[in-house]
Amino acid sequence: MKIGVFDSGIGGLTVLKRLIEKYPNNEYIYYGDTKNIPYGDKTIDELKVLSSNIVNFLIKQEVDMIVIACGTISSNLSGYLKEKYNIKIIDIISPVINYLNNANYEKIGVIATNATINSKVFSNNINKKVKEVACPKFVPLIENNDLSELNKCFNAYLDDLKDCDLIVLGCTHYPIIKEKISEYLNNKIKLLDMAECINNISNDGIKRVDLYFSKLDNKILSNVNSIIKEKIDSVNLVM
Ligand code: DGL
Repeated sequence: MKIGVFDSGIGGLTVLKRLIEKYPNNEYIYYGDTKNIPYGDKTIDELKVLSSNIVNFLIKQEVDMIVIACGTISSNLSGYLKEKYNIKIIDIISPVINYLNNANYEKIGVIATNATINSKVFSNNINKKVKEVACPKFVPLIENNDLSELNKCFNAYLDDLKDCDLIVLGCTHYPIIKEKISEYLNNKIKLLDMAECINNISNDGIKRVDLYFSKLDNKILSNVNSIIKEKIDSVNLVM
């Protein structure tokens, strides 16, 4: 199976990594829109154009299905994209909602981008107590690998969630800083990486991984290498 996976930047690589681990026998085409990041502060109309351009690109690469490895697009535009395109599209949030509605956690926290929190996709669809916090500073700091500045945001974003049983990492960039978040919370709260909930993907083709980015520099390449340790066949710049 040839699977397209996309995000605004390097965050979706945390999803790709899990897909490769769990379903290695596929051909993966990853698109990171590093030129237009961050998506979390864009308007819905802007996000429609950007995500449609990426889906068109992936369809041209003849993928059989697409995984939206971006919380912001999954929360706001998965319905729009699924309706617009005649190809199987999986979003990253529906499996999480399914999982939490059937799990024994009662107080759920969600951290995500402004656009995802504003969509209320988690609080409207999970039948438990849900506290949602937007963390708009995280994505730029993660993309810039500015991890020391990150610690300064933790109290503002996380203190309100200290009584939760589980916190959803509602943006695919956040697994990159999962250990730091966990340490700040004294390793007491389960942090859910959304990609853990994806299932039922086929695993029956050739193994290949090709990455495409709309902007490519040494910083992005070094981030790629620190997130994905598996073999990558090519890294490409695409306009
Ligand atoms: N990884 C994207 C998400 O899951 C980041 C969004 C952004 O670019 O702000 O929401």
